[in-house]
Amino acid sequence: MRILGIETSCDETAAAVVEDGSRIISNVVTSQIDIHARYGGVVPEVASRQHLLTIIPVINQAMTGVSWQDVHGIAVTFGPGLAGSLLVGVNVAKAMALAKDLPISGINHLEAHIYANWLDSSSTARKEVVKFPCLCLIVSGGHSDLILMNGHGQFKKLGRTRDDAAGEAFDKAARILGLGYPGGPAIEQAARLGTPCLSLPRAWLKDSHDFSFSGLKTALWHVVHQGGISVPDAAASFQLAVVDVLVAKTVEAARQLKVEQILLSGGVAANQTLAQRFLADSPLPVLIPPPLLCTDNAAMVAACGYHHFQAGRTSRSDLDVVPSLTLG
Ligand code: KG4
Ligand code: ZN
Repeated sequence: MRILGIETSCDETAAAVVEDGSRIISNVVTSQIDIHARYGGVVPEVASRQHLLTIIPVINQAMTGVSWQDVHGIAVTFGPGLAGSLLVGVNVAKAMALAKDLPISGINHLEAHIYANWLDSSSTARKEVVKFPCLCLIVSGGHSDLILMNGHGQFKKLGRTRDDAAGEAFDKAARILGLGYPGGPAIEQAARLGTPCLSLPRAWLKDSHDFSFSGLKTALWHVVHQGGISVPDAAASFQLAVVDVLVAKTVEAARQLKVEQILLSGGVAANQTLAQRFLADSPLPVLIPPPLLCTDNAAMVAACGYHHFQAGRTSRSDLDVVPSLTLG
């Protein structure tokens, strides 16, 4: 079963065709990073206009060599995200579903991130298959959620961030350090040249499964403004503080819940220091998509859509966007 996935929730215009929820036939991602970088973050109005310009060429590219006859349904992100950006993907998907007489399934972007773990990729030959129950850590630009997954479509939220999301913290820290946007890759690169010699705070929040990163960001700001610390050392210290908390709290929750596996997802999961620490510290198997499937893409949307169509979960033709959609 081949599914066309469409993703326009933030600043990536993406379309992909995925077979049986795992085999990537095509995966096209057009990033708007260069356009937003000069503003230091995503400008919603600019993002939606850019989606309008690129969505049709991106879908056409994803459909190159694929016959519409072989497509069984269209999966599209309908939230959470920027309203104007989501509207472009949802409306194009609805129009195509109508024109090609295909069923449509509205997909939660957070659920889609988790399904990146089902995708085959040439760079990491998958040794592990996903086993339920598993504990999902979604760390993206807008979310840091800890979610128990008991089966396809069965999610229970255990924790979330109380302030900044992990990716947001990386982006703000990069701004403090003058490293530009997006912050995650910039901090990771700078950190490679430094040592984590600064002692920065970690918010453990006692027995709660919640996260908090705004205190860390403020502490970094104070240290940097006192002067005398190199950017690579500050980046390495900040990154280590985030990694320490994400890994320790997730591994502890997995131990308490007696899950089979830990599944990482979201843009921050592209961070190799985080990935390596998870693999080193977790007594349980940890699944991590390759970096290009951690950040926003439509292959994960199509993979998620496959399981929706399998379960008969389709959307009506009046599907609308839900910018503040949550999971679990
Ligand atoms: O999942 P994503 O692509 O989009 C959202 O759904 O938000 O995540 C984007 C976030 C950004 O905050 C970005 O700085 C962060 O993921 N990110 C990283 C890395 N690559 C992207 N954070 C840390 N290390 C990275 N290598
Ligand atoms: Zn995302």
